[in-house]
Amino acid sequence: MIPPKQIQDILDATRIEEVIEEFVTLRRRGVNLIGLCPFHGEKTPSFNVNPARNIFKCFGCGKGGDAITFLREHENLSYIDALKWLARKYNIEIQETERTPEQVAEMQLTDSLYIVNDFALKHFQEQLFDTDEGKSVALAYFKQRGLREDTIRAFGLGYAPEQRDLLIRRARATGHNIDLVKKVGLCSQDGGRDFFRGRVMFAIHNISGKVAAFAGRTMSSDKTIPKYINSPETEIYIKNKTLYGAFQAKKAIRQQDECLLVEGYMDVISLYQAGIENVVASSGTSLTEGQLQLIKRNTNNLKILYDGDPAGIKAALRGLDLALEQDLNVRICLLPDGHDPDSYVQTFGGEAFRTFTTKNAKDFILFKTSILLEETKGDPMRKAGLVKDIVSSIIKIKDRSKREEYIQGCLNLLASSNAYGRREAEEGIRSEIIKEDTKNINKLAEKNSRQPGPISDTQGSYPDYHQTIDPHTPSSNTEPNSLGQDRRSALMTDEFQERDIVRLLVQFGSQTLDKEGISIAEFILADISESLSDFDNALYGKMAGLCYDLLLEQKTPDQNFFIHHPEKEISDLAIDLLTSPFDMSHNWEARWGYPLQNQPIPDLNFDADMRQALDRFKLRKLNKLCNVLNPARIKAASESENMEEVMRLMRIQEKLKSTRNELAKKTGTIVLP
Ligand code: UTP
Ligand code: MN
Repeated sequence: MIPPKQIQDILDATRIEEVIEEFVTLRRRGVNLIGLCPFHGEKTPSFNVNPARNIFKCFGCGKGGDAITFLREHENLSYIDALKWLARKYNIEIQETERTPEQVAEMQLTDSLYIVNDFALKHFQEQLFDTDEGKSVALAYFKQRGLREDTIRAFGLGYAPEQRDLLIRRARATGHNIDLVKKVGLCSQDGGRDFFRGRVMFAIHNISGKVAAFAGRTMSSDKTIPKYINSPETEIYIKNKTLYGAFQAKKAIRQQDECLLVEGYMDVISLYQAGIENVVASSGTSLTEGQLQLIKRNTNNLKILYDGDPAGIKAALRGLDLALEQDLNVRICLLPDGHDPDSYVQTFGGEAFRTFTTKNAKDFILFKTSILLEETKGDPMRKAGLVKDIVSSIIKIKDRSKREEYIQGCLNLLASSNAYGRREAEEGIRSEIIKEDTKNINKLAEKNSRQPGPISDTQGSYPDYHQTIDPHTPSSNTEPNSLGQDRRSALMTDEFQERDIVRLLVQFGSQTLDKEGISIAEFILADISESLSDFDNALYGKMAGLCYDLLLEQKTPDQNFFIHHPEKEISDLAIDLLTSPFDMSHNWEARWGYPLQNQPIPDLNFDADMRQALDRFKLRKLNKLCNVLNPARIKAASESENMEEVMRLMRIQEKLKSTRNELAKKTGTIVLP
């Protein structure tokens, strides 16, 4: 128990930016600090830290809160442990009040399970280091496998002798509840026998370093005995959310911005000992979503080391689309015949390992393509299946330019294999991608049409950007929906596109375009001047109008004009636009139902950024005319039996459609039928 007064002291001393800076590189932007969100993968920073209010907020994934929340989420700490973490950081001594027997009894079950595991860890370590048998049998085994004593201690290795119930007796003697010993799987259900006997022991830590489970390896080479046995799943050991070595590796993973994935316990330990610390193991199973998320918190780059045969590797590859879906960059490295990472690094050393894996790591999709190609050789029947298989992976990549790179890479491979002509391969891949894309879009559109009201997050992993991005009362278009639900996307307001235009005006309006020799503001407003009265969002329309008026007065609007504007709603919006995240691509996709080019950082690429934004803006306006406004007029005209007007509007409709389609093609947007 930490007394309330001390909790207050700790909270008072805490400065959120100092806490977060221990994990995330932050840089200043205005009054806030920003960085790459540690909770979801991103390349442009949307993670905001507000020192004045002592809070953080990610505009990408929506996570937010105070320092305690941050530590609980990021470090997987309990509330109390987060407080203790802060107390340590700020040198505040905690005088915990004594626990009463009742409180001890009330202690959370999970805490008591950890306590039993701690006891077991100490027991196994004592058996390893302090008994003759342990030293001569188990410690000798570890040393013969090349482990140093500091490594053995750092990974919580130990020894369980062959005796029937040594651990149970020790647990009883030291007052541990045998039911809990059973519960964590350290003894049989009747309490008569230890679970781990005659094995060297590996502690399995959770991400914050607590012992969640154990694995025991036999020292015998008898193939009929299982090589490794494991603790069962419990409240504190959820296998598909655990990665062996993650606790020891997480700092290095973050620093090196890469995570190595191996299969075995010994692989992790030997690599770590050789100075390659950014390594975790899946413990022989295929990667789960929970494990991928654990990785993603620390890096987007995953390098997988395989030692299996081609058939095994192919099976393993199947699970990896999950990693692509999570936006991880996945690379694969095959080790030379007969070596696993442990044997390789023990034989050749860390430097050789690093060189080898750097040189031989291949991008996952290209790797998969070449493995499949190898298989398909001489079997023309399987050619179409191969393209499908490749596309099933490519389609998982959301970033358009990255996707395009992969397509090119795969095409090169396919063409150079002589199994395909380049043309044939390209057509195959592209048509397959369009097929898949259309499927996804239709799914999205269907979902959208089922959800009434303002469009919210359509895919679980996408944040509801709309809420965070626009505090300025977004209006919703109330055009009558006479055209059926499938036209719903056209009924949405154009606020996103409008906001993008206004953002460009505020952020870059005064900059000059090299090619045209005019300012960005002039370029934009000349292009959309006839739409100025068409803005769905009145405030955005007002901003654009203000700019336009300035230009008419031969003045160039710059940031200061907006920031210091006497009208509060204008200056607020300007500040918001200048401080908000700008990578909207994910949300574009989720909200508007069709994919868009990934936007590069505007500061670096405002020219292309602007042209795209303009096209999108115009496309939205055209879409609305085409799908909603004009058809509604046609309907009205035909209802009043004004056939001449109907014909005129139909001709306009054709013209609108072709202009819209051209623009759609240019922006790489797929238009819903
Ligand atoms: P391996 O059989 O490749 O063993 O299993 P290894 O890691 O090279 O082990 P050493 O070097 O012989 O000690 C790879 C991983 O699969 C899991 C373990 O996590 C192991 O490290 N495994 C394997 C089990 O859980 N149970 C088994 O019986 C075998
Ligand atoms: Mn091995």
